[in-house]
This record gives sequence, structure tokens and C-alpha cells, in this order.
Amino acid sequence: MKSVASLPRPIAEYQTLSAEELFARTAAAKRALGDQVMVLGHNYQRDEVIEHADVRGDSLLLAKQAAERADRPYVVFCGVHFMAETADILSRSNQTVILPDLAAGCSMADMAAIEQVDQCWESLGRLLPVENTVLPVVYVNSAAVLKAFCGEHGGITCTSSNARAVMEWAWARREKILFFPDEHLGRNTANAMGVPRERMIVWDPYLPNGGNTRDAIHRATLILWKGHCSVHQMFRPAHVDYFRRQYPDGIVIVHPECHEDVVNKADLVGSTEFIIRTVRSAPPGTTWAVGTELNLVNRLKREQADKRVLFLSSTVCQCATMFRIDAPHLCWAMENLAEGHVVNRIVVPEDEKAWAKVALDRMMEIS
Ligand code: 13P
Ligand code: SF4
Repeated sequence: MKSVASLPRPIAEYQTLSAEELFARTAAAKRALGDQVMVLGHNYQRDEVIEHADVRGDSLLLAKQAAERADRPYVVFCGVHFMAETADILSRSNQTVILPDLAAGCSMADMAAIEQVDQCWESLGRLLPVENTVLPVVYVNSAAVLKAFCGEHGGITCTSSNARAVMEWAWARREKILFFPDEHLGRNTANAMGVPRERMIVWDPYLPNGGNTRDAIHRATLILWKGHCSVHQMFRPAHVDYFRRQYPDGIVIVHPECHEDVVNKADLVGSTEFIIRTVRSAPPGTTWAVGTELNLVNRLKREQADKRVLFLSSTVCQCATMFRIDAPHLCWAMENLAEGHVVNRIVVPEDEKAWAKVALDRMMEIS
């Protein structure tokens, strides 16, 4: 990385460049940075971005990379804000994490605010000895401050690939789990573990006691936050039925953020990495309907040309926030870095970082 006194280049300079120029300039900046930089790419990223990634994967795999690759001073995270925050928490203090577009958020993560979670905890505390009875489990698709809340209250984080192991860990310690912000990942995982329906309640942060009676709260072993992914909630059971009528021998594979009515009709459910691995290792000639983000499915379709890979729905579209990371933003971040300017650095405040790391480390130990 060169050290120069000039100002950072503005993003506007990049928005009129051709795809070829952007590719060549990003690749050149990456070559110039060499071992100084590691580019991480989530499986939902666009092709024009993911082709520059040193490592691609699901949330867990990328978090592990951030924790393990202390040799790279700069991590350019092509994903969404909560993933870059996780990388900042797990990486060393001398590493710098960059998110090429700060507007790349996650609508699910925005469905639980710390004030609402604090209020929920207080409400539960009026009914139960909450610190001994309820263990908070937060999906990594959440702000760092919520991970910190979990760390501080004996809780833990989870991803779509370890939710079951994390919930087993939690129930071995306390009678109840408060699972947030994704109702569906929590419910689908509990369904697979055989938790009876009457033991699960939904906590609506906009209602007193989450919209539950005292009795229901006392009976519950799983308190599910009323939150969801705006992309995965669009898959419907009718999409599965339609596919099965067209391809009776076809296999349906979906992400656990889908509604239980879709998951229960699917053949397989798992994280983005599980979906990719499963379809890749399937025999040629097999037919698949995939219920997750469109960029991933389209890439899988192209890579696995000896199989028929279909998108489960014709109406669901890309994750709009993952889509914010595009070739101009990546090129802008990489060229500035190569010229000595860090743009869009993600820094989790130290007080949040310490407790959030406790919750993430607990998860890493069992993953
Ligand atoms: P994975 O951890 O399965 O990649 O999921 C992340 C995500 O945001 C899914 O919507
Ligand atoms: Fe968030 Fe859903 Fe996008 Fe995943 S697909 S980043 S959960 S909005």
C-alpha cells in the first residue's frame, strides 16, 4: 500500500467505467496490494464482485476466515454490514475491515433494535428470574450491539449452519431460549429438533409482553422474535407444489430463513454453503429447485450445467442490500486502498466489541 498525501478518489469517477475497465483496474489494485489484502465474498454477491474474492462462503466460513487470517492487514468484505462488523470483532486490532458500500445493510438485522431487546428482557424479568432461566441466542444477521447483549447475558450467536448445535448448547444451560431476530431460522431448527409447537411463542416487540399471556411465557421453552428476511419470506409452499408437478423426481433445497410451510415441504434445508456443496456433489442429470437468493442460484445454474438447476420462484428477486456491492464500489475501495486511502472502514466500538466477541467465541468453540 503506497503512502501518498492526495485525497481519496470519489466514487463518481468509477460509475461511468465499463465492466472491462472495472475488472482490469480492480485486479491491478489487488495485485499491487498483494498479501496486504484479503477479499472475502459472501455467496450472494454478484459475479462481477465474487470473481475477485480470495475466499467465498457462507456467514460462518467467512467469519472463520476473518478470525484466522491475521496475516492480512486489510480485509475487504463483499457482503453486508453485519458480516463486516463480525469480521472487525474477530480480526486482530491491527487489521482493518472495509465494506465497499456502507448502504449494504440487512432488512432482517434492522428488525431488532437494542432498545426493543432490552425492553423484552425487562418484561421477561418481571415474570421470571430471567438471567437464570432465559438464554439469549442471536443470529449473526444482527447489529454488533445485539451480539454484545448476548455476550453480557451468558448468550451466544449462531449462523444458519450451526443453529442446531447452538440451541442444544443453550438448552443444556437454561430452560428457555430467546431467539432473535429471525423467527423462521429459530422455528425451523426447533422443528427439526422435535420441540413441540406449544412450547414456542412469538415475541412481537410492538406489543406488551410481546403479545403473549403470562401462562404462555411460563410454558414456552423457545421465544421467537417476530423478524424475518424480506427475500426468503417470499418463497411460498405453492412454489414447491408447482415445481413438484413439473418435475416429480426433482429435489427441493431451501435456506432455513424460509417459512416453515416451505421448509416442511422441501427435501433439504441448509446454509448457502450447504446448498452449493449439495448441488455440486449431486449426480449429473438431476433436477433441483433452489430456494435462496437469486445471484447464488444463477451462478449454480451456470456452474452445474450437467444438472437442471431452477430458482424455486419466478417472482422473488435478489437481496437488494447484498446487491449494493457492485464492481464500481469494489474498484473504488481497492484503488483507494492501493493508493494509501482507507474508505468505508467498519469499526465496532470497543465496549460493544468485547462482549460481542464473547458471544461469537462461544459459537466458534462449538462450530
Ligand atoms: P448463510 O450464512 O447461509 O450464508 O446466510 C446468510 C444470509 O444472510 C442468508 O440470507
Ligand atoms: Fe439479510 Fe435476507 Fe439479504 Fe440475507 S438475504 S442479507 S437475511 S435481507
